[in-house]
Amino acid sequence: MSGKNSPFLARLDAVAAETETLLDRLLASAPAAGELSRPARLIEAMRYASLGGGKRFRPFLLVESAGLFQVPRPNALMAGAALECVHCYSLVHDDLPAMDNDELRRGQPTAHRKFDEATAILSGDGLLTFAFDILSREETHPQAAVRIELVNALARAAGLGGMAGGQMLDLAAEGRFGTVSHGEREVRMLQAMKTGALLRFACQAGGILGGASAQQREALTRFGAAVGEAFQIADDLLDIEGDPVLVGKSTGKDLAAGKATFVSVLGIPGAKRRLEQLVTEAEAALAPFGAAAAMLIEGAHFVAERRA
Ligand code: IPE
Ligand code: IPE
Ligand code: MG
Ligand code: MG
Ligand code: MG
Repeated sequence: MSGKNSPFLARLDAVAAETETLLDRLLASAPAAGELSRPARLIEAMRYASLGGGKRFRPFLLVESAGLFQVPRPNALMAGAALECVHCYSLVHDDLPAMDNDELRRGQPTAHRKFDEATAILSGDGLLTFAFDILSREETHPQAAVRIELVNALARAAGLGGMAGGQMLDLAAEGRFGTVSHGEREVRMLQAMKTGALLRFACQAGGILGGASAQQREALTRFGAAVGEAFQIADDLLDIEGDPVLVGKSTGKDLAAGKATFVSVLGIPGAKRRLEQLVTEAEAALAPFGAAAAMLIEGAHFVAERRA
């Protein structure tokens, strides 16, 4: 993606490049203090799954929301790198044969195709755990209480009541474990968990790092929730209307798998109307921050208009 044409794309590109450099350093082959070794095949798979691709939109949201509170950028980038590790792990596991069974991710073979299933599973385990290693470091924030709050918030967003729980609901909605009903309410819940939770965390984390007030946190959560829902609607639309070369993954798979998506419950025009509504909600949520939130609002528009 080139940042030549818009200030927003330039900011997204900058966060992506800085996140890449940081992850590359953190995921070096030499063991860190307390580690016995970093097995070559595992670190190679973890690097494969996390470097050299991806929009890095979650770190962007985190860095920009932290920017509202003048959080030093290196701190925000560390938290962004941690979040990206959880996101990349979620993609590796999502693509496994037992889950969505995909062969292409970010224009490359999925981790289990490139390596093997066991290595892919372990690389996911490694990335998930590594996220909390990153968050617990002083480099992320000088105050231990702030780091603990980040650890807790990311654990809640990633786990049982967040992403992993949402993935469970997503698979259950295919009817794999018995017949289930999935109306708009159920789809909204499953998507708020599987995709929304990590995007909400991205926005909340800026407030945690920056010591935001309760009201400011509430505004960031509302923004993150709207962007999270919009993000998955856009993903569901891209599965139908997207160009596989641009999206870097196979398309047309959700219908074939019997997935419950916003498009399956609202239809394409309904999903597009909902997307517009969510952008408006996202803008309204950040009104209290005024002009300082312009980049985050651009981010909400980017989500709705994205082709990749
Ligand atoms: C894809 O996420 C999975 C969803 C949650 C919809 P992204 O579209 O952010 O994937 P990358 O990181 O840019 O490849
Ligand atoms: C994935 O949703 C959400 C995750 C938690 C990874 P999808 O299954 O729709 O994501 P893609 O389309 O494979 O990227
Ligand atoms: Mg999936
Ligand atoms: Mg998938
Ligand atoms: Mg999808």
